[in-house]
Amino acid sequence: GQILGIEGTAWNLSAALFGEDVISLFSRPYSPPSGGIHPREASQHHASAMKEVIEKALLGQDIHKIKGIAFSRGPGLGPCLRTVGTAARSLALALDVPLIGVNHCVAHVEIGRWQCGCDDPVVLYASGANTQVLGFLKSRYRIFGETLDIGLGNCLDKFARSKGMPHPGGPLIEKLASEGDPVELPYTVKGMDLAFSGIMSAAKDCKAPLEDVCAGFQETAFAMCVEVTERALAHSGKDEVLLVGGVGANSRLREMLGEMCDERGATFYVPEKKYIGDNGAMIALTGKIMLEAGQTIPVFDSAVNPGYRSDDVEVFWRNDTGD
Ligand code: ATP
Ligand code: FE2
Repeated sequence: GQILGIEGTAWNLSAALFGEDVISLFSRPYSPPSGGIHPREASQHHASAMKEVIEKALLGQDIHKIKGIAFSRGPGLGPCLRTVGTAARSLALALDVPLIGVNHCVAHVEIGRWQCGCDDPVVLYASGANTQVLGFLKSRYRIFGETLDIGLGNCLDKFARSKGMPHPGGPLIEKLASEGDPVELPYTVKGMDLAFSGIMSAAKDCKAPLEDVCAGFQETAFAMCVEVTERALAHSGKDEVLLVGGVGANSRLREMLGEMCDERGATFYVPEKKYIGDNGAMIALTGKIMLEAGQTIPVFDSAVNPGYRSDDVEVFWRNDTGD
């Protein structure tokens, strides 16, 4: 059977059809005219783009082959989640198929595992709102370590905005950093957790050339992430590392993680660009896996959850040997 998946936790409204593989994927990203993402404006964008996005994802397809509707239930921006949830519920009722509420973080992990063919990785999930090191243990994706304040992507975006760069800042910072000599900035790892507000305010105040500040920002923030990932590898005894989330597009972060993995004899994986940031395919794929495991939700009990954590999800589709 095929599953229609709808993602819309924040900036990207995206729908995909997944059968044995990704059949279709169509996205309409929201880019704020200025400043960062405003939840209400993003949800209005999603509402007005919904019809087109679903139609494009279903173009030329036989809707009778659809066996379930999956949607991003959280975490994310409340108004955006509710817009997506409403559309998903209507479709499930109209087609008379089950509804599957997918955790956005778990979906990032599952599309990475599927696309890279890795089995039981330590996952560095670095995106706008989230920065976590995850691993599967006893029926759940456990959070080994995470940011105590803001996500790495949001931190990069806010710093970029303070320097007059457009949103999102990550790609532009990467470009500038490649031309700079890294300045020193505060490095904050607390146990297995990370904090980015110190590095962000120091970078905002730093008077060095912007290229050098960007380079220092990347070297420091990425080294913090690599340190926690490395310790999670050592503690868990796993031998794979998977990088997911929008910041995973950064080639310097990939290089640093790849080097750490080489030194430890671990294998490093990163999915294709179109699957690394928010996309409908990750929701459709995870929806399919969950439907096969019987993890559907009744429409009347399908409220969205802006604070949904990856370890809130009981993972019925993997067994505890890690397979
Ligand atoms: P989540 O809900 O999982 O937190 P998100 O809504 O932030 O996700 P993603 O697509 O996973 O969306 O990540 C977007 C972030 O990725 C933005 O903060 C952006 O600046 C960052 N980013 C994108 N490309 C790069 C890059 N080349 N280098 C660094 N950061 C990047
Ligand atoms: Fe995401």
